[in-house]
Amino acid sequence: MRAMPSLLDRRLIVVIGKGGVGKSTVAAGLALAGARKGKRVLVAEVNARERVSVLLERRPVGHEIGQLEANIDAVNVEPRAAMREYALMILKFRSIYNAVFENRMVRYFLRAVPSLAQLVMLGKILYHVNETLPDGRPRWDLVVLDAPATGHGLLLLRLPQVLATSMPSGPMADEAHKMHQTLIDPRRTAVALVSLPEAMPVNEAIELNRQLRDVVGTPPAALFLNGYVRPRFSPEERERLRGAPGPLADAAQAVLSRELRAELSERYANKLAVDTELPPILLPFLFTRRFGRAEIEQISQIVESA
Ligand SMILES: Nc1ncnc2c1ncn2[C@@H]1O[C@H](COP(=O)(O)OP(=O)(O)OP(=O)(O)O)[C@@H](O)[C@H]1O
Ligand SMILES: [Mg+2]
Repeated sequence: MRAMPSLLDRRLIVVIGKGGVGKSTVAAGLALAGARKGKRVLVAEVNARERVSVLLERRPVGHEIGQLEANIDAVNVEPRAAMREYALMILKFRSIYNAVFENRMVRYFLRAVPSLAQLVMLGKILYHVNETLPDGRPRWDLVVLDAPATGHGLLLLRLPQVLATSMPSGPMADEAHKMHQTLIDPRRTAVALVSLPEAMPVNEAIELNRQLRDVVGTPPAALFLNGYVRPRFSPEERERLRGAPGPLADAAQAVLSRELRAELSERYANKLAVDTELPPILLPFLFTRRFGRAEIEQISQIVESA
């Protein structure tokens, strides 16, 4: 059996986890790491608010693909723009598109059937994963999908399979089937879980891992434990801090709180390793006034060496 390509050598990385755990941070870090390796990267967000360009301190790109910087393009995928673009890519003929997709019924459907909107957004992204240039090379070497939080993200990944099996056979079912094949192909696609060393995000990551394995058929390839805090003091030193006298007591308490965070970080890393069978990649909590490009650079270095 051939060895599985490393994370950055896949064609698609789907970053998924509970809300606020650092998905966009990891997605931006992966993009930088990929670009440093000379890959042409496309970062796709499917959120209402564009985050990756902000984290990388670049101008927003919006709903059309635009360049963030050398080797990194980005797009904030939105249903209607995706529908238009996807339909044009598939149908090729603008006149048909205009007749079919600019009409009020379709707009109505996109709003009324959220799964259709989701399918179109995912379809556009997977199209780019497999898109080639006239000379046969892939247009992008790596697509990073900053997926919606837990439940919505899972739904997005399940959708092609659900639709492929529930729709009557025909072009739509074929399309959904092809999308599912791309998602479950470990040579092309990797799912990366993100968690924080806290109870709820960890439980969600464990549950997500189970569902991705058992229901979607995409066992995660990597697990990032973000916001990791390492201990600074030995148990003996901590004991002495506990007895700090008078004016130092508050400062000692602050240090001890941080040490507790470190203890929890380690405990949750162990729990995740046992329950998901993935060795967590530890991303440190970065104490900074403004979380931006410099921090993403740091994260990307760790991502790259992991
Ligand atoms: N390693 C870290 N150290 C310190 N702060 C961090 C770290 N990672 C993320 N943050 C902070 O948490 C914020 C949220 O991170 P991010 O936007 O990546 O989360 P998310 O999972 O994408 O959130 P959402 O679910 O809303 O999309 C960041 O803007 C940053 O301020
Ligand atoms: Mg985000």
